Amino acid sequence: MQLFLDSTDVAAIKDLAATGLVDGITTNPTLIAKSGRPMAKVIAEICAAVEGPVSAEVTAQDTAGMLDEGRKLATIAPNVVIKVPLTRDGLIACREFAHEGISTNVTLCFSAAQALLAAKAGAAYISPFIGRLDDVGADGMDLIVEIRAIYDNYDFDTEILAASIRTPTHVTNAAIAGADCATIPPDVFNDLFKHPLTERGLDQFMKDWAKTGQSIL
Ligand code: G3P
Repeated sequence: MQLFLDSTDVAAIKDLAATGLVDGITTNPTLIAKSGRPMAKVIAEICAAVEGPVSAEVTAQDTAGMLDEGRKLATIAPNVVIKVPLTRDGLIACREFAHEGISTNVTLCFSAAQALLAAKAGAAYISPFIGRLDDVGADGMDLIVEIRAIYDNYDFDTEILAASIRTPTHVTNAAIAGADCATIPPDVFNDLFKHPLTERGLDQFMKDWAKTGQSIL
């Protein structure tokens, strides 16, 4: 499973990329706003820090505007992936980007029918929003299961990128459901390393080791 960071915090991205465990980055207009910095600069810095795909989202609502913005964003770096919303205009833009050889990540997916259309439009990634479905009383993970079944039935190449991830359990359940990738906020990514029994066990091992008075080196 590929693990992406959902962030525009360049320091946090560099810190986690140094582990070798980060396969890509996703951003959105909210995260760009949170950075308080110019989008093109932030995306360029992220692309320089990470070899994998970096999603940069268009903000136009019409196909022509999305194509103009996407073509411009794609010039920032070869690893830029253009994020388009799952609307009729967004999917028409997605199809054109696919013809032009520009990878897309279709975002704000909340139904399996939407995911089917995105795959037919040639999306490289589909982003179902798990946490936001949970927020409204649905089980976001059911959507991953449905999309996995549909994509496998028809051998679609579109990768399922579980998004709106809020907890480590979201990550593991998305992996069990067969998501190809999960995009994770840095604080949740850091939580993936941790377990209280790991900490307790290590503490005990170190106490017992200290009693031996030995040194390995
Ligand atoms: O990748 C989409 C993600 O940024 C949305 O997350 O927590 O705002 O629903 P959230």
